[in-house]
Amino acid sequence: MRVFVAGGTGAIGRPLVARLLEHGHHVTVLTRSEQRAEKIRAGGSEAVVGDVLATGSLVGLLGASHPDIVVNQLTSLARTAARRDLHRGLADTARLRTEASASIMAAAAGAGVRRVVAQSIAFVYRPGPGTRTEDDPLYLDGPAQITQVAGPVTRLESETLGSDTVDGVVLRYGAFYGPGTYYAPAGAFAELARARRLPVVGHGRGIFGFVHVEDAAAATVAALTGPPGVYNVVDDRPAPTSEWVPHLARLLGAKRPRNMPARLFSLLAGRYSVYLFDEQPAVSNARATAALGWRPQFPDWHDGFASVFS
Ligand SMILES: NC(=O)c1ccc[n+]([C@@H]2O[C@H](COP(=O)([O-])OP(=O)(O)OC[C@H]3O[C@@H](n4cnc5c(N)ncnc54)[C@H](OP(=O)(O)O)[C@@H]3O)[C@@H](O)[C@H]2O)c1
Repeated sequence: MRVFVAGGTGAIGRPLVARLLEHGHHVTVLTRSEQRAEKIRAGGSEAVVGDVLATGSLVGLLGASHPDIVVNQLTSLARTAARRDLHRGLADTARLRTEASASIMAAAAGAGVRRVVAQSIAFVYRPGPGTRTEDDPLYLDGPAQITQVAGPVTRLESETLGSDTVDGVVLRYGAFYGPGTYYAPAGAFAELARARRLPVVGHGRGIFGFVHVEDAAAATVAALTGPPGVYNVVDDRPAPTSEWVPHLARLLGAKRPRNMPARLFSLLAGRYSVYLFDEQPAVSNARATAALGWRPQFPDWHDGFASVFS
């Protein structure tokens, strides 16, 4: 198939493009950088240079490669864990999730694209006990800093799923770890843990759904042909922060993490970070495993972390 990947140079995009080529697909990757375009071509894909936020219509960028499928992996997230960078990244990503998603769907419909697969997140469900499935509500009625994330995510999802002519698949990925992510030996969270600046927040009740980027890429390939709809893409083993934060510190040979009251962490890192570390609920991958036939290579983040950090 002919696959157009917007966001094919990012943390998930790179392993995804490699897998698409291995599966024999014809791949076109969008990037803003001429230099990265050269690398993409050297790797065996075609490259298109453009900025989706600076271009009114994506018809020209997307239509010229005549794709059967478009994969939208656009984000603009910070490389560092500095609060100012994280906030700017979330604001830019909100624009991509709203403006760019709508442009992609319009251009895809015009170009006769059969399916759009879009990146969403599994860490914006409403808090509370129990495990969330795709049918549970997102946290749209929470504090402002959380709805600033949940609102654009909802818009991306409804744009992607709302076409009469293009099948939509939304992949709600969990927290990526592995090469090129925050959770890699040189990643921002590993650096924080080494500096004893990654605390257990509040009661450490936030439950992360981790997924190795290679496993996330494999789920994305499965989503090219599986039934349309919404899927959580997380591993099998929900990870409370009271467990994974000290575990990561041990793997890195760092000192035991500090405990920090949620209110202080909110001042330092923002209210959404408190949600992530002390409130977010566990998420189920049952639908993705049943309907997409996807099995993560690392069903348990303990094994995945050991392979990444040891
Ligand atoms: N679920 C998760 O846990 C999750 C999800 C996403 C990201 N992250 C984390 O966030 C960090 C940064 O992510 P990342 O490395 O993927 O980088 P990123 O800066 O978020 O960029 C992602 C992709 O979007 C493209 N892009 C961004 N703005 C664009 C625009 N205006 N027009 C066209 N393309 C645009 C980039 O292409 P070019 O730069 O080549 O133009 C790149 O391919 C990593 O640590 C990653 O793990 C986590």
